[in-house]
Amino acid sequence: MKNNKKIAVIGCGVMGTILINNLKELKFPVLGLDKDDDIKQAEGCDIVILAVKPQDFKNLNLKLAKDTLVISIMAGITIVKIKSQLKVTKIIRAMPNMPARINQGFVGWYATKHVANDDKNFAEQLFNKMGDSMELSNEDSINKVTAIAGSGPAYVFHTIQSYINGAKALGLKESDAKKMVFQTIKGSLAMVNEQTDLDTLIKSVASKGGTTEAALKVFNKKNAAKIWEQAMGSAYNRAKEL
Ligand SMILES: NC(=O)c1ccc[n+]([C@@H]2O[C@H](COP(=O)([O-])OP(=O)(O)OC[C@H]3O[C@@H](n4cnc5c(N)ncnc54)[C@H](OP(=O)(O)O)[C@@H]3O)[C@@H](O)[C@H]2O)c1
Repeated sequence: MKNNKKIAVIGCGVMGTILINNLKELKFPVLGLDKDDDIKQAEGCDIVILAVKPQDFKNLNLKLAKDTLVISIMAGITIVKIKSQLKVTKIIRAMPNMPARINQGFVGWYATKHVANDDKNFAEQLFNKMGDSMELSNEDSINKVTAIAGSGPAYVFHTIQSYINGAKALGLKESDAKKMVFQTIKGSLAMVNEQTDLDTLIKSVASKGGTTEAALKVFNKKNAAKIWEQAMGSAYNRAKEL
């Protein structure tokens, strides 16, 4: 897509600012409009990106041209709602996650059938700049992305916290525990990138009757895998409710 499209981002908070910065880095001219701005300025734009909180969407009084591309990152605001309020049909719903702040995010996105390939390419270019992205084949998958990747950083932080607490329970001071845990995670992730078969990787660390097996027995007895499944199921159900 040529960089001569007029783009507005409505809502310049945490996510809106990330979108604006990435668009600028991609050399797209962009108009950022926050609460105290006249959002009517978005009405002449070819692309309008909605980054307000879901509860503020109803306050957006906009008369957009019918062929405006609307990209929404608002959680829980469905395509039906966007269509009905803004009277547009070219809509992309996207769900980014927080590591987008450091260009290591994941963005799952779904486009209505009215969105042309050129517009999809634009969206993909923006989302890939924020990290990595995936086009979804149906809107419900946005709820799955929310449960897996949107909320995901908190699962990872929570797990790291428990790992550090486990090290502290063995008597380590916090700084030593963090150093050991962070490097172990970093190294393990690098190995996963090289060899994606996790069973093989687990077996390569856990020898029969050894220390790793003793720890893994506890994870299995407490059914850690089931806990993850239930936690994500719960996030998915909540995403559908919102
Ligand atoms: N944060 C995340 O990790 C994340 C991840 C995925 C999706 N999202 C979605 O991204 C959206 C934004 O989240 P956020 O965390 O960036 O929220 P945020 O930091 O609160 O940003 C929202 C911005 O919109 C402004 N705003 C409110 N009403 C407005 C209006 N009528 N016109 C123009 N601007 C208006 C707010 O101004 P005031 O503060 O003055 O009200 C604020 O600056 C949400 O819908 C959320 O579901 C967020």
